[in-house]
Amino acid sequence: ARTPVTVTVTGAAGQIGYALLFRIASGQLLGADTPVKLRLLEIPQGVKAAEGTAMELDDCAFPLLRSIDIHDDPRHGFDGANVALLVGARPRTKGMERGDLLEANGGIFKPQGQAINEVAADDIRVLVVGNPANTNALIARAAAPDVPADRFTAMTRLDHNRAITQLAKKLDAPVSEVKKLTIWGNHSATQYPDVFHAEVRGENAAAAVNDEAWLNDTFIPTVAKRGAAIIEARGASSAASAANAAIDHVHDWVNGTPEGDWTSAGIVSDGSYGVPEGLISSFPVVSRNGRWEIVQGLEINEFSRTRIDASVAELIEERDAVQKLGLI
Ligand code: NAI
Repeated sequence: ARTPVTVTVTGAAGQIGYALLFRIASGQLLGADTPVKLRLLEIPQGVKAAEGTAMELDDCAFPLLRSIDIHDDPRHGFDGANVALLVGARPRTKGMERGDLLEANGGIFKPQGQAINEVAADDIRVLVVGNPANTNALIARAAAPDVPADRFTAMTRLDHNRAITQLAKKLDAPVSEVKKLTIWGNHSATQYPDVFHAEVRGENAAAAVNDEAWLNDTFIPTVAKRGAAIIEARGASSAASAANAAIDHVHDWVNGTPEGDWTSAGIVSDGSYGVPEGLISSFPVVSRNGRWEIVQGLEINEFSRTRIDASVAELIEERDAVQKLGLI
């Protein structure tokens, strides 16, 4: 068997944490031949509940699970971490302005980034799930100058998976026949799910849909507002599907994306497609040799350009706001 991989999960006592930890421990994150050491990071009030989850993990007798440690100090929680899933975040509460939200999350993601810089393993890979995910990732990244920038990513895989299913349903195709879909920009209501390069049953998806009104009035808003629709229906935000997307993201990052397809992830921009360098924005990506690469050379039409630009403009605003707050 391989050497164990240390996986740190923050917000471990939350609802995504509960949906995520059992799948990590069962081998779905890294593969069925990789033993896992779990480190759970919570705030002090969350530690007891995390201990309860750890008891249940014990009770599964997962063959790959080598240890579980619970911490409330990031300097211990990220010690030796090879993979860090930053799920715990400060939610927006009633009457909270965006500036307050960014500042509150800066108070979480800056010290976590510093701790990752100091104590994580050299090959650390970070996925930020907690919202606002792209900008939280930017804050953590800025606090970790010794870690290569491309190790900090933000999750847009849930949006990607949501878009695949909506498109598959529209064209009455199995989801496995949908390829090369892209989420661009911010993980927020401004995100742009792009079907112009997507393929369904090997055919161009936009041509197969052939209905710009459906794209504009149904598909894009359904994907972008899916989180709110789930809260409305379930009385709680998406958790199992978010955990599933986090598993997909890290699994593909470590093991590679399939030939002939790509996925979407929030990664540090190198300036591709007019997205300012250094922003953490969602792109079409493949993973090769353990690194995300932006798919190059796609032609961006007018319809896509205005929507990508609008979401990137929001990312720039968020970046400028956290810069003003001294968080990056
Ligand atoms: P939750 O409220 O059930 O759990 C959050 C947990 O984080 C709590 O147990 C809390 O004690 C913990 N926490 C708070 N601050 C922490 C800190 N500084 N260190 C360690 N733990 C801390 O929330 P849920 O439903 O699990 O969602 C977590 C985050 O994921 C939210 O920000 C949510 O908006 C986001 N999310 C992101 C998605 C995406 O696609 N990127 C999709 C769905 C949710």
